[in-house]
Amino acid sequence: MPNKTRAAITGIHGWVPDTKLTNANLEKIVDTNDEWITSRTGIKERRILRTPGWATSDMAAEAVKGLLEKTGVKPGEIDLIIVATVTGDMVFPDTANTVCDKIGAKNAFGFDINAACSGFLFALTTGAQFVVNETYKRVVVVGADMMSSIVDYQDRNTCVLFGDAAAAVLLEARRDGTGIQDFILRGDGSGREHLFMKAGGSKFPPTAETVARREHFVYQDGKRVFKYAVEGMVSTVSEVLRRNHLTTDDVRWIVPHQANMRIINAVSEHLHFPIEKVMVNIHKYGNTTAATLGLCLWEYEKQMEKGDNIVLTAFGGGFTWGAIYLKWAY
Ligand code: UT7
Repeated sequence: MPNKTRAAITGIHGWVPDTKLTNANLEKIVDTNDEWITSRTGIKERRILRTPGWATSDMAAEAVKGLLEKTGVKPGEIDLIIVATVTGDMVFPDTANTVCDKIGAKNAFGFDINAACSGFLFALTTGAQFVVNETYKRVVVVGADMMSSIVDYQDRNTCVLFGDAAAAVLLEARRDGTGIQDFILRGDGSGREHLFMKAGGSKFPPTAETVARREHFVYQDGKRVFKYAVEGMVSTVSEVLRRNHLTTDDVRWIVPHQANMRIINAVSEHLHFPIEKVMVNIHKYGNTTAATLGLCLWEYEKQMEKGDNIVLTAFGGGFTWGAIYLKWAY
C-alpha cells in the first residue's frame, strides 16, 4: 500500500567521545589481553566520555544538534524527543527533557525509555506511533548511553565490553512506501537477574554497603545472555521476514545490536544471511547499549539507498528483544 502513512527515518547522526580505550589500555587495568578480547568479542577499542561535567544528555544533545544541522530542521520544529538509555543523567528527571532544554527544543516534550540494549527498537517503534497517527510531525529518537558510568573497571568480565556513544534519528511521515513496515517487540522479566545493575533503585537504595559490595555496576551472566541473545534475535528476525513474505535475498542489510562479534556471526549463520550484508562496527565502539543500532545506521548511511529493505534487531537486559523491518527512505 504505497499511499499508507508510515513513519520513516529521514535523517541520522551519531556522536562518540574522542577518548579511546584500547585493549592495550585495558591490559594495564585488569587481568586481560588483546587476544582474549578480540577472539571472544571482536572489540578492539571503545570510546569513553571524559569531558568534565558531561553526561548522557550531553552526548545525546551533540547527536541531535548534528542531526538538525544535517536535516535543516530547527529545534523549535521538533514535537517530541524520546531518549532510550539505561544511564540517564539522574534517576529523575528524565534525560529527554534535559536534551530538549540543551538543544533549545522549546515546543517539544520528552521522555525516556529503558529497555537496555533493545532501547533503540522500543523507542523507535514508540516514536513511530505518534507519526503514523499524525499526532506529531517531527519526532527525534535518540539512543544514548554512558556505560563507563556504570561499568566496574575492576571486573574483567564486563569492563572490556562497553563504551559510550549516542545516535539520533528524525522520524517523519512518508506516503511513498518507505518507512517502518513492521515490528516485533518482546520481553521476559524473568531474565532480569541475568543482566542488571542491582542497587540504586527503590529495591536496593544506595547505601555505604551497596557501594562497598560494588552493586552500582553492571552485572551479567555472559554465557546465558549469549544464548538467549542469539535465539531472541534469530527468532524475531525470522518471524518478521516470514510474515512480510521476504526471503533473506530481499533484505539489503541486517543491523544487529553490537554486543559480541560471535553473537553477530551466529545470528548471520542461523539466518543463512551473508555477513557482508550485516552492519558491524563493534571493533571500534564495543557495546554502547541503546546507541549501537543508530551508530551502525549513521556509519553505513552512504551505503543505503532509498527502498532498501533493512531489518534492525537487538537483545538486552530485561530481557527485552525484537526486530523492526523498514524500507530506507532516502
Ligand atoms: O548487550 C546486552 C546483551 N549482552 C550480550 O549479548 C553479551 C553476551 N555474552 C557475551 O558476549 C560473552 O558471554 C562474554 C564476552 C561476556 C564472555 O565470553 P565467554 O566466551 O562466554 O566467556 P566466559 O564468561 O565463559 O569466560 C571464559 C573464561 C573464564 O575463565 P575460566 O573460568 O574458564 O578460567 C573467564 O574468567 O574467560 C575468562 N575471562 C577473561 N579472560 C581474559 C572473562 N573475561 C575475560 C577477560 N580477559 N576480559
